[in-house]
Amino acid sequence: MAQISQTPDVPSMGRRQFMNLLTFGSAAGVAAGALYPFIKYFVPASSGGSSGGVTAKDSLGNDIIVSEFLANHQPGDRTLAQGLKGDPTYLIVENDGNLANFGLNAVCTHLGCVVPWNNGEGKFICPCHGSQYNAQGKVVRGPAPLSLALAHADVVNDKVSFTTWTETDFRTDENPWWT
Ligand code: FES
Repeated sequence: MAQISQTPDVPSMGRRQFMNLLTFGSAAGVAAGALYPFIKYFVPASSGGSSGGVTAKDSLGNDIIVSEFLANHQPGDRTLAQGLKGDPTYLIVENDGNLANFGLNAVCTHLGCVVPWNNGEGKFICPCHGSQYNAQGKVVRGPAPLSLALAHADVVNDKVSFTTWTETDFRTDENPWWT
């Protein structure tokens, strides 16, 4: 007797909402999917040029050009980009006008909704069950059990290179829960 798969749908829900949120056209999605192996082949993980990272992309699937991005964003802005494993990841413009060297994974640690930034409140507030995270993504109100995951966001050749944050979480002084 075949068993029905019990695969949890939380991650796919987050991904789907990301797609909705950024209004990716299906063509862009297909193109990005088709390009992935191509990019993977020509930019191996050990490549010095890419620092082994994943290049941040905008809602159309184009690489974000840092100089253009900063010319069009204000200090304090938190903007979604496509990050590691395709996860929606916030890029942050610091008060000095530079890009923060970390990105925040926008997937709520409760049940996977994409958490929007509320500029008036100065927090990320999840529309699904009300969890809140401070400006650096540290959870300040449940039911979310954990802070938003960090990723390194380094500027390489005027693009943003995301890499996994494996060091201590500077917001909690604890080991990262996402690795
Ligand atoms: Fe964000 Fe439940 S999914 S609070």
